[in-house]
Amino acid sequence: MIKGENLKKASNNNNVNVVEAVKGINIEIKKGQITGLLGLNGAGKTTSIRMLSGELLPDEGTVYEDNTPIEKNLTNFRTKVNVISGTERGLFWHLTAYDNLTYFARLYGIEKETYRSRIPNLLKLVRLEKASGQRVETFLKV
Ligand SMILES: Nc1ncnc2c1ncn2[C@@H]1O[C@H](COP(=O)(O)OP(=O)(O)OP(=O)(O)O)[C@@H](O)[C@H]1O
Ligand SMILES: [Mg+2]
Repeated sequence: MIKGENLKKASNNNNVNVVEAVKGINIEIKKGQITGLLGLNGAGKTTSIRMLSGELLPDEGTVYEDNTPIEKNLTNFRTKVNVISGTERGLFWHLTAYDNLTYFARLYGIEKETYRSRIPNLLKLVRLEKASGQRVETFLKV
């Protein structure tokens, strides 16, 4: 369970043009629960997700993982979370599909024998097994 309590975040350029990106949200997401955030452009969705995933520290409020503040062991929490943002590409375009997956597997501390057996299955799952050795930048032409 991930819980955000009274999360606030403002951009602060030495107190000039302060934008209150998130003004105090409370949210609880249970294990296995799929949650959607709806809001106008600039409402604070991305900033909220970045705080809930431990990427951005809130100015006020606390994010909990199973009732423990994530700040107690932020590094450990971050190894369990992944965020794929629709507005940014999260892959290395000059690396192949296989190498991208290897990179992220290693970043997350997954054992070599585990990722070597898992990657082909994942590529198959998204019908990219034939593109395993192709650089991601070529995918647009596939
Ligand atoms: N790095 C930043 N510096 C200054 N202001 C920022 C920064 N990031 C976001 N903001 C501001 O914070 C507010 C919330 O932005 P955020 O990106 O969280 O909204 P959003 O709901 O994800 O918007 P969108 O629907 O456009 O993706 C906006 O007013 C935005 O201009
Ligand atoms: Mg956004």
